[in-house]
Amino acid sequence: MSIGLASKLITNAVRLSLAGRSARFSFFRTRLTEFPKIKKCGIYIHVPFCKQLCPYCPYNRIKYDSSLVAKYIEAIQEEIRYYARFYPELDITSIYFGGGTPTVLDKDIEKIVEALHANFKISGPLCIETNPIDLSHEKVQLLKSLGFHAVSLGIESFDNSLLDTIGRKYTPRKIDDVLMWLEDAKFLNVNIDLMFALPGQNLKQLHNDMVKAITTCADQITAYPLLLFPYSSVGQFLRLRNIKMPGISQRRTMYYYIYDYLIDIGYKRVSVWSFKRSKEAPRFSSVTRERYIGFGPGAGSYYGPLFTLNTFSVQEYIASIKEKGHAVALEMPFTSTLSILYDFYWRLYDTYLPKKRELENLTYHLNDIKGINLLLTLGRLLGMLTDKGKYFELTREGSFWVHLLQNYFVLPYINTIWTEASRQPWPDIIKF
Ligand SMILES: C[S@@+](CC[C@H](N)C(=O)[O-])C[C@H]1O[C@@H](n2cnc3c(N)ncnc32)[C@H](O)[C@@H]1O
Ligand code: SF4
Repeated sequence: MSIGLASKLITNAVRLSLAGRSARFSFFRTRLTEFPKIKKCGIYIHVPFCKQLCPYCPYNRIKYDSSLVAKYIEAIQEEIRYYARFYPELDITSIYFGGGTPTVLDKDIEKIVEALHANFKISGPLCIETNPIDLSHEKVQLLKSLGFHAVSLGIESFDNSLLDTIGRKYTPRKIDDVLMWLEDAKFLNVNIDLMFALPGQNLKQLHNDMVKAITTCADQITAYPLLLFPYSSVGQFLRLRNIKMPGISQRRTMYYYIYDYLIDIGYKRVSVWSFKRSKEAPRFSSVTRERYIGFGPGAGSYYGPLFTLNTFSVQEYIASIKEKGHAVALEMPFTSTLSILYDFYWRLYDTYLPKKRELENLTYHLNDIKGINLLLTLGRLLGMLTDKGKYFELTREGSFWVHLLQNYFVLPYINTIWTEASRQPWPDIIKF
Protein backbone atom coordinates (compact mmCIF):
# COMPACT_ATOMS: atom_id res chain seq x y z
CA MET A 1 0.00 0.00 0.00
CA SER A 2 1.39 3.45 -0.86
CA ILE A 3 2.15 5.87 1.97
CA GLY A 4 -0.36 8.31 0.35
CA LEU A 5 -3.20 5.77 0.49
CA ALA A 6 -2.25 4.61 3.99
CA SER A 7 -2.23 8.18 5.31
CA LYS A 8 -5.64 8.79 3.69
CA LEU A 9 -7.17 5.72 5.37
CA ILE A 10 -5.66 6.55 8.76
CA THR A 11 -6.75 10.20 8.48
CA ASN A 12 -10.31 9.19 7.65
CA ALA A 13 -10.46 6.83 10.61
CA VAL A 14 -8.95 9.37 13.03
CA ARG A 15 -11.04 12.30 11.82
CA LEU A 16 -14.33 10.34 12.08
CA SER A 17 -13.56 8.98 15.53
CA LEU A 18 -12.41 12.35 16.89
CA ALA A 19 -14.70 14.81 15.12
CA GLY A 20 -17.79 12.57 14.89
CA ARG A 21 -19.82 11.47 11.88
CA SER A 22 -21.79 14.71 11.72
CA ALA A 23 -18.66 16.67 10.73
CA ARG A 24 -18.61 17.26 6.97
CA PHE A 25 -15.15 17.47 5.48
CA SER A 26 -16.06 19.32 2.30
CA PHE A 27 -16.05 22.85 1.03
CA PHE A 28 -19.32 23.99 -0.58
CA ARG A 29 -20.05 26.87 -2.92
CA THR A 30 -21.03 29.60 -0.49
CA ARG A 31 -24.57 30.86 0.06
CA LEU A 32 -23.53 33.16 2.89
CA THR A 33 -25.53 36.28 3.50
CA GLU A 34 -23.85 37.17 6.77
CA PHE A 35 -20.84 36.14 8.80
CA PRO A 36 -20.67 34.52 12.26
CA LYS A 37 -20.45 36.85 15.25
CA ILE A 38 -16.96 37.27 16.68
CA LYS A 39 -15.52 39.90 19.01
CA LYS A 40 -11.84 39.79 18.16
CA CYS A 41 -9.66 38.27 15.48
CA GLY A 42 -6.50 38.63 13.41
CA ILE A 43 -6.52 39.96 9.85
CA TYR A 44 -4.68 38.32 6.98
CA ILE A 45 -4.02 40.29 3.79
CA HIS A 46 -3.10 38.16 0.79
CA VAL A 47 -1.00 39.90 -1.87
CA PRO A 48 -0.85 37.47 -4.81
CA PHE A 49 1.96 39.09 -6.82
CA CYS A 50 5.67 38.33 -7.19
CA LYS A 51 8.22 39.85 -9.54
CA GLN A 52 9.79 36.40 -10.05
CA LEU A 53 7.98 33.12 -9.68
CA CYS A 54 9.88 30.37 -7.83
CA PRO A 55 9.29 27.01 -9.50
CA TYR A 56 8.64 25.13 -6.23
CA CYS A 57 6.19 27.68 -4.83
CA PRO A 58 2.81 26.29 -3.68
CA TYR A 59 1.17 29.62 -2.84
CA ASN A 60 -1.54 31.47 -4.74
CA ARG A 61 0.55 33.96 -6.66
CA ILE A 62 0.95 35.32 -10.18
CA LYS A 63 3.49 37.43 -12.00
CA TYR A 64 3.41 41.13 -11.11
CA ASP A 65 1.26 43.11 -13.55
CA SER A 66 0.91 46.83 -12.82
CA SER A 67 -2.59 47.29 -14.29
CA LEU A 68 -3.92 44.29 -12.35
CA VAL A 69 -2.18 45.51 -9.19
CA ALA A 70 -3.98 48.87 -9.49
CA LYS A 71 -7.37 47.10 -9.67
CA TYR A 72 -6.41 44.77 -6.81
CA ILE A 73 -5.56 47.75 -4.59
CA GLU A 74 -9.00 49.28 -5.23
CA ALA A 75 -10.69 45.92 -4.60
CA ILE A 76 -8.97 45.13 -1.33
CA GLN A 77 -9.83 48.53 0.13
CA GLU A 78 -13.46 47.91 -0.83
CA GLU A 79 -13.36 44.44 0.73
CA ILE A 80 -12.00 45.93 3.99
CA ARG A 81 -14.87 48.46 4.06
CA TYR A 82 -17.39 45.70 3.35
CA TYR A 83 -16.30 43.57 6.35
CA ALA A 84 -15.98 46.61 8.60
CA ARG A 85 -19.71 47.27 8.04
CA PHE A 86 -20.43 43.78 9.41
CA TYR A 87 -18.05 44.13 12.32
CA PRO A 88 -18.04 47.75 13.52
CA GLU A 89 -16.82 46.77 17.02
CA LEU A 90 -14.26 44.11 16.12
CA ASP A 91 -10.97 44.15 18.05
CA ILE A 92 -8.13 43.36 15.62
CA THR A 93 -5.38 41.60 17.54
CA SER A 94 -2.87 41.27 14.68
CA ILE A 95 -2.45 42.07 11.00
CA TYR A 96 -0.41 39.86 8.74
CA PHE A 97 0.50 40.71 5.14
CA GLY A 98 1.44 37.51 3.29
CA GLY A 99 1.67 36.32 -0.23
CA GLY A 100 3.05 36.27 -2.78
CA THR A 101 5.38 39.09 -1.92
CA PRO A 102 3.47 41.98 -0.30
CA THR A 103 6.37 44.41 -0.66
CA VAL A 104 5.99 44.40 -4.49
CA LEU A 105 3.10 46.80 -3.85
CA ASP A 106 5.60 49.47 -2.89
CA LYS A 107 3.94 52.71 -1.73
CA ASP A 108 0.48 51.23 -2.37
CA ILE A 109 0.88 49.21 0.84
CA GLU A 110 0.09 52.50 2.54
CA LYS A 111 -3.41 52.55 1.00
CA ILE A 112 -4.19 49.15 2.53
CA VAL A 113 -2.72 50.08 5.92
CA GLU A 114 -4.75 53.32 5.90
CA ALA A 115 -7.95 51.47 4.97
CA LEU A 116 -7.38 49.07 7.88
CA HIS A 117 -6.82 51.88 10.37
CA ALA A 118 -9.79 53.86 9.04
CA ASN A 119 -12.16 50.91 9.34
CA PHE A 120 -11.04 48.77 12.29
CA LYS A 121 -9.91 49.14 15.87
CA ILE A 122 -6.40 47.66 15.81
CA SER A 123 -4.79 46.60 19.06
CA GLY A 124 -2.10 44.20 17.81
CA PRO A 125 1.08 44.20 15.73
CA LEU A 126 1.46 44.62 11.96
CA CYS A 127 3.59 41.94 10.32
CA ILE A 128 4.74 41.50 6.73
CA GLU A 129 6.52 38.89 4.60
CA THR A 130 9.10 39.80 2.05
CA ASN A 131 12.12 38.46 0.24
CA PRO A 132 15.63 39.87 -0.27
CA ILE A 133 15.30 40.50 -4.00
CA ASP A 134 12.41 42.81 -3.41
CA LEU A 135 13.84 45.00 -0.64
CA SER A 136 15.75 48.26 -0.90
CA HIS A 137 16.83 50.59 1.87
CA GLU A 138 13.92 52.93 1.00
CA LYS A 139 11.39 50.10 1.13
CA VAL A 140 12.57 49.02 4.56
CA GLN A 141 12.19 52.61 5.76
CA LEU A 142 8.73 52.76 4.20
CA LEU A 143 7.68 49.66 6.18
CA LYS A 144 9.00 51.23 9.36
CA SER A 145 7.20 54.53 8.69
CA LEU A 146 3.93 52.67 8.04
CA GLY A 147 4.12 51.19 11.52
CA PHE A 148 5.07 47.59 10.77
CA HIS A 149 6.33 45.89 13.92
CA ALA A 150 7.59 42.62 12.47
CA VAL A 151 9.16 41.59 9.17
CA SER A 152 9.77 38.09 7.88
CA LEU A 153 12.46 37.64 5.26
CA GLY A 154 12.46 34.54 3.02
CA ILE A 155 16.22 33.95 2.80
CA GLU A 156 15.97 30.13 2.31
CA SER A 157 19.77 29.69 2.33
CA PHE A 158 22.95 31.79 2.51
CA ASP A 159 24.64 29.39 0.08
CA ASN A 160 24.95 30.81 -3.43
CA SER A 161 24.86 27.44 -5.16
CA LEU A 162 21.73 26.32 -3.25
CA LEU A 163 20.00 29.62 -4.02
CA ASP A 164 20.84 28.97 -7.65
CA THR A 165 19.50 25.43 -7.50
CA ILE A 166 16.10 26.56 -6.24
CA GLY A 167 15.95 29.56 -8.57
CA ARG A 168 16.26 32.40 -6.04
CA LYS A 169 17.83 35.26 -7.93
CA TYR A 170 19.73 37.18 -5.24
CA THR A 171 23.21 36.86 -3.84
CA PRO A 172 24.45 36.32 -0.26
CA ARG A 173 25.79 39.90 -0.50
CA LYS A 174 22.26 41.24 -1.10
CA ILE A 175 21.02 39.25 1.91
CA ASP A 176 23.68 40.93 4.07
CA ASP A 177 22.63 44.39 2.88
CA VAL A 178 18.96 43.71 3.55
CA LEU A 179 19.67 42.38 7.03
CA MET A 180 21.71 45.48 7.79
CA TRP A 181 18.80 47.75 6.73
CA LEU A 182 16.38 45.69 8.82
CA GLU A 183 18.66 45.91 11.85
CA ASP A 184 18.98 49.69 11.47
CA ALA A 185 15.21 50.06 11.30
CA LYS A 186 14.81 48.37 14.74
CA PHE A 187 11.67 46.32 14.15
CA LEU A 188 10.27 44.47 17.18
CA ASN A 189 10.84 41.17 15.45
CA VAL A 190 12.77 40.09 12.37
CA ASN A 191 12.11 36.50 11.35
CA ILE A 192 14.15 34.73 8.71
CA ASP A 193 12.84 31.72 6.77
CA LEU A 194 15.31 29.03 5.80
CA MET A 195 14.62 25.88 3.83
CA PHE A 196 16.37 22.55 4.35
CA ALA A 197 16.59 19.20 2.56
CA LEU A 198 17.16 21.21 -0.62
CA PRO A 199 18.31 19.23 -3.69
CA GLY A 200 21.93 18.19 -3.13
CA GLN A 201 22.22 20.00 0.24
CA ASN A 202 24.63 18.34 2.68
CA LEU A 203 25.01 18.71 6.45
CA LYS A 204 28.02 20.97 6.06
CA GLN A 205 25.93 23.44 4.04
CA LEU A 206 23.14 23.26 6.61
CA HIS A 207 25.69 23.87 9.38
CA ASN A 208 27.03 26.92 7.50
CA ASP A 209 23.48 28.27 7.14
CA MET A 210 22.90 27.92 10.90
CA VAL A 211 26.26 29.52 11.79
CA LYS A 212 25.40 32.46 9.54
CA ALA A 213 21.75 32.71 10.66
CA ILE A 214 22.64 33.24 14.32
CA THR A 215 25.07 36.05 13.53
CA THR A 216 22.34 38.09 11.83
CA CYS A 217 19.89 40.49 13.49
CA ALA A 218 17.09 37.90 13.22
CA ASP A 219 15.14 37.47 16.46
CA GLN A 220 13.49 34.36 15.10
CA ILE A 221 14.64 31.57 12.77
CA THR A 222 12.10 29.42 10.94
CA ALA A 223 13.12 26.37 8.93
CA TYR A 224 10.95 24.33 6.55
CA PRO A 225 11.85 21.20 4.59
CA LEU A 226 11.36 21.70 0.85
CA LEU A 227 8.09 20.11 -0.30
CA LEU A 228 7.01 19.80 -3.91
CA PHE A 229 3.31 20.10 -4.62
CA PRO A 230 1.88 18.55 -7.82
CA TYR A 231 0.30 21.85 -8.88
CA SER A 232 3.55 23.89 -8.51
CA SER A 233 5.58 24.49 -11.71
CA VAL A 234 8.22 21.95 -10.75
CA GLY A 235 5.52 19.47 -9.65
CA GLN A 236 3.83 19.78 -13.04
CA PHE A 237 7.16 19.41 -14.81
CA LEU A 238 7.91 16.25 -12.82
CA ARG A 239 4.27 15.10 -13.32
CA LEU A 240 3.89 14.55 -9.59
CA ARG A 241 0.66 12.90 -8.46
CA ASN A 242 1.27 13.34 -4.74
CA ILE A 243 3.28 15.80 -2.67
CA LYS A 244 6.99 14.93 -2.92
CA MET A 245 8.72 15.19 0.46
CA PRO A 246 12.29 14.65 1.59
CA GLY A 247 12.93 11.13 2.97
CA ILE A 248 12.28 10.65 6.68
CA SER A 249 15.87 9.89 7.61
CA GLN A 250 17.35 12.92 5.80
CA ARG A 251 14.63 15.14 7.19
CA ARG A 252 15.05 13.83 10.74
CA THR A 253 18.84 14.27 10.66
CA MET A 254 18.53 17.82 9.37
CA TYR A 255 15.64 18.77 11.65
CA TYR A 256 17.47 17.54 14.78
CA TYR A 257 20.60 19.30 13.59
CA ILE A 258 18.77 22.63 13.43
CA TYR A 259 16.90 21.95 16.68
CA ASP A 260 19.97 20.98 18.72
CA TYR A 261 22.11 23.72 17.24
CA LEU A 262 19.66 26.46 18.24
CA ILE A 263 18.47 25.03 21.57
CA ASP A 264 22.07 24.40 22.71
CA ILE A 265 22.92 28.09 22.33
CA GLY A 266 19.82 29.26 24.18
CA TYR A 267 17.14 29.75 21.52
CA LYS A 268 13.56 28.95 22.60
CA ARG A 269 11.32 26.78 20.47
CA VAL A 270 8.13 28.73 19.64
CA SER A 271 6.56 26.32 17.17
CA VAL A 272 7.61 23.05 15.60
CA TRP A 273 9.50 24.98 12.95
CA SER A 274 10.45 28.29 14.65
CA PHE A 275 13.00 29.29 17.28
CA LYS A 276 13.27 32.64 19.01
CA ARG A 277 16.45 34.24 20.30
CA SER A 278 14.99 35.94 23.35
CA LYS A 279 11.79 35.90 25.31
CA GLU A 280 11.22 39.63 24.76
CA ALA A 281 10.72 39.73 20.98
CA PRO A 282 7.08 39.07 20.09
CA ARG A 283 6.64 35.86 18.16
CA PHE A 284 6.17 36.07 14.41
CA SER A 285 3.41 33.69 13.36
CA SER A 286 1.10 33.50 10.37
CA VAL A 287 -1.04 30.42 10.78
CA THR A 288 -1.71 29.71 14.41
CA ARG A 289 -4.20 32.46 15.21
CA GLU A 290 -7.46 31.64 16.97
CA ARG A 291 -9.85 33.51 14.65
CA TYR A 292 -8.99 35.48 11.51
CA ILE A 293 -10.52 37.20 8.53
CA GLY A 294 -8.58 36.94 5.28
CA PHE A 295 -8.69 39.56 2.53
CA GLY A 296 -7.47 39.08 -1.04
CA PRO A 297 -7.59 36.25 -3.60
CA GLY A 298 -7.46 32.77 -2.06
CA ALA A 299 -7.45 34.13 1.51
CA GLY A 300 -9.06 31.91 4.14
CA SER A 301 -11.13 33.12 7.12
CA TYR A 302 -11.80 31.16 10.27
CA TYR A 303 -14.66 32.14 12.59
CA GLY A 304 -14.97 29.06 14.85
CA PRO A 305 -18.19 27.55 13.45
CA LEU A 306 -17.19 28.34 9.88
CA PHE A 307 -14.17 28.32 7.57
CA THR A 308 -14.38 30.23 4.26
CA LEU A 309 -12.12 30.69 1.24
CA ASN A 310 -12.08 33.53 -1.25
CA THR A 311 -11.87 32.76 -4.95
CA PHE A 312 -8.25 32.11 -5.98
CA SER A 313 -8.52 33.93 -9.32
CA VAL A 314 -7.26 37.52 -9.10
CA GLN A 315 -9.56 38.69 -11.95
CA GLU A 316 -12.62 36.98 -10.45
CA TYR A 317 -11.75 38.38 -7.03
CA ILE A 318 -11.69 41.93 -8.42
CA ALA A 319 -14.98 41.41 -10.32
CA SER A 320 -16.72 39.85 -7.30
CA ILE A 321 -15.69 42.65 -4.93
CA LYS A 322 -17.06 45.18 -7.42
CA GLU A 323 -20.34 43.31 -7.65
CA LYS A 324 -20.92 42.08 -4.07
CA GLY A 325 -18.28 43.60 -1.80
CA HIS A 326 -16.86 40.18 -0.90
CA ALA A 327 -15.26 37.33 -2.86
CA VAL A 328 -16.05 34.29 -0.70
CA ALA A 329 -16.22 31.24 -2.97
CA LEU A 330 -16.32 28.32 -0.56
CA GLU A 331 -17.45 27.57 2.96
CA MET A 332 -17.04 24.68 5.34
CA PRO A 333 -19.16 24.57 8.49
CA PHE A 334 -17.35 23.33 11.59
CA THR A 335 -19.14 21.34 14.28
CA SER A 336 -18.24 22.46 17.80
CA THR A 337 -16.11 19.31 18.24
CA LEU A 338 -14.27 20.04 15.02
CA SER A 339 -13.54 23.61 16.02
CA ILE A 340 -12.19 22.44 19.39
CA LEU A 341 -9.98 19.92 17.58
CA TYR A 342 -8.85 22.58 15.15
CA ASP A 343 -7.84 24.85 18.02
CA PHE A 344 -5.94 22.09 19.85
CA TYR A 345 -4.27 21.08 16.59
CA TRP A 346 -2.73 24.53 16.22
CA ARG A 347 -1.73 24.58 19.88
CA LEU A 348 0.18 21.37 19.18
CA TYR A 349 2.01 23.37 16.54
CA ASP A 350 2.88 25.85 19.24
CA THR A 351 4.45 22.74 20.87
CA TYR A 352 2.17 22.54 23.88
CA LEU A 353 -1.34 21.25 24.56
CA PRO A 354 -3.18 23.18 27.29
CA LYS A 355 -5.58 21.07 29.34
CA LYS A 356 -8.11 23.91 29.36
CA ARG A 357 -8.83 26.67 26.81
CA GLU A 358 -10.96 29.79 27.03
CA LEU A 359 -12.08 31.20 23.69
CA GLU A 360 -14.91 33.63 22.81
CA ASN A 361 -16.52 33.10 26.27
CA LEU A 362 -16.37 29.31 25.95
CA THR A 363 -14.26 26.99 28.04
CA TYR A 364 -12.94 23.77 26.45
CA HIS A 365 -11.21 20.91 28.19
CA LEU A 366 -8.75 18.70 26.40
CA ASN A 367 -10.24 15.56 27.88
CA ASP A 368 -13.72 16.47 26.51
CA ILE A 369 -12.38 15.10 23.21
CA LYS A 370 -13.44 11.50 22.80
CA GLY A 371 -10.48 9.13 22.59
CA ILE A 372 -7.92 11.82 23.42
CA ASN A 373 -6.71 10.16 26.62
CA LEU A 374 -5.58 7.10 24.70
CA LEU A 375 -3.64 9.28 22.25
CA LEU A 376 -2.07 11.30 25.10
CA THR A 377 -1.02 8.13 26.94
CA LEU A 378 0.47 6.77 23.73
CA GLY A 379 2.26 10.08 23.12
CA ARG A 380 3.76 9.98 26.63
CA LEU A 381 4.81 6.32 26.34
CA LEU A 382 6.50 7.00 23.00
CA GLY A 383 8.40 9.93 24.54
CA MET A 384 6.67 12.60 22.45
CA LEU A 385 4.89 14.47 25.24
CA THR A 386 5.64 15.43 28.81
CA ASP A 387 2.97 16.33 31.34
CA LYS A 388 3.68 19.81 32.74
CA GLY A 389 0.62 20.08 34.99
CA LYS A 390 -1.60 22.60 33.20
CA TYR A 391 -0.42 21.50 29.78
CA PHE A 392 1.43 18.81 27.83
CA GLU A 393 4.65 19.82 26.14
CA LEU A 394 6.08 18.30 22.97
CA THR A 395 9.55 16.81 23.32
CA ARG A 396 12.16 17.17 20.57
CA GLU A 397 10.97 13.84 19.14
CA GLY A 398 7.32 14.89 19.44
CA SER A 399 8.14 18.12 17.65
CA PHE A 400 9.66 16.22 14.73
CA TRP A 401 6.76 13.79 14.46
CA VAL A 402 4.13 16.54 14.56
CA HIS A 403 6.09 18.30 11.82
CA LEU A 404 6.14 15.12 9.78
CA LEU A 405 2.57 14.01 10.46
CA GLN A 406 1.27 17.42 9.50
CA ASN A 407 2.99 16.95 6.15
CA TYR A 408 1.49 13.51 5.59
CA PHE A 409 -1.98 14.08 6.99
CA VAL A 410 -2.85 17.75 6.52
CA LEU A 411 -0.98 18.88 3.41
CA PRO A 412 -2.79 16.36 1.15
CA TYR A 413 -6.04 18.21 2.06
CA ILE A 414 -4.44 21.53 1.24
CA ASN A 415 -3.17 20.04 -2.01
CA THR A 416 -6.69 18.89 -2.99
CA ILE A 417 -8.31 22.22 -2.11
CA TRP A 418 -5.66 24.33 -3.83
CA THR A 419 -5.53 22.17 -6.95
CA GLU A 420 -9.31 22.48 -7.40
CA ALA A 421 -9.55 26.12 -6.36
CA SER A 422 -6.74 27.10 -8.74
CA ARG A 423 -8.43 25.20 -11.57
CA GLN A 424 -11.85 26.84 -11.26
CA PRO A 425 -12.66 30.13 -9.56
CA TRP A 426 -16.09 29.11 -8.21
CA PRO A 427 -16.10 25.33 -7.53
CA ASP A 428 -19.44 23.79 -6.46
CA ILE A 429 -17.88 21.41 -4.01
CA ILE A 430 -14.42 20.23 -2.96
CA LYS A 431 -14.57 16.92 -1.13
CA PHE A 432 -11.77 15.23 0.76
C1 LIG B 1 5.06 33.14 1.01
S1 LIG B 1 6.71 32.72 1.24
C2 LIG B 1 7.49 34.16 1.91
C3 LIG B 1 7.64 35.45 1.25
C4 LIG B 1 8.33 35.58 -0.05
N1 LIG B 1 7.38 35.40 -1.09
C5 LIG B 1 9.50 34.63 -0.24
O1 LIG B 1 9.38 33.69 -0.99
O2 LIG B 1 10.53 34.89 0.35
C6 LIG B 1 6.82 31.89 2.79
C7 LIG B 1 7.93 30.90 2.99
O3 LIG B 1 7.47 29.60 2.68
C8 LIG B 1 8.56 28.77 2.47
N2 LIG B 1 8.28 27.95 1.28
C9 LIG B 1 7.91 28.36 0.06
N3 LIG B 1 7.73 27.31 -0.75
C10 LIG B 1 8.00 26.20 -0.02
C11 LIG B 1 8.00 24.80 -0.31
N4 LIG B 1 7.67 24.34 -1.51
N5 LIG B 1 8.35 23.94 0.68
C12 LIG B 1 8.68 24.40 1.90
N6 LIG B 1 8.68 25.70 2.24
C13 LIG B 1 8.34 26.60 1.29
C14 LIG B 1 9.79 29.64 2.25
O4 LIG B 1 10.64 29.52 3.35
C15 LIG B 1 9.18 31.03 2.16
O5 LIG B 1 10.03 31.99 2.66
S1 SF4 C 1 8.23 31.50 -2.85
FE1 SF4 C 1 7.71 33.60 -2.41
S2 SF4 C 1 8.75 34.83 -4.01
FE2 SF4 C 1 8.76 32.73 -4.69
S3 SF4 C 1 6.94 32.64 -6.01
FE3 SF4 C 1 6.35 31.90 -3.95
S4 SF4 C 1 5.53 33.64 -2.92
FE4 SF4 C 1 6.69 34.39 -4.72
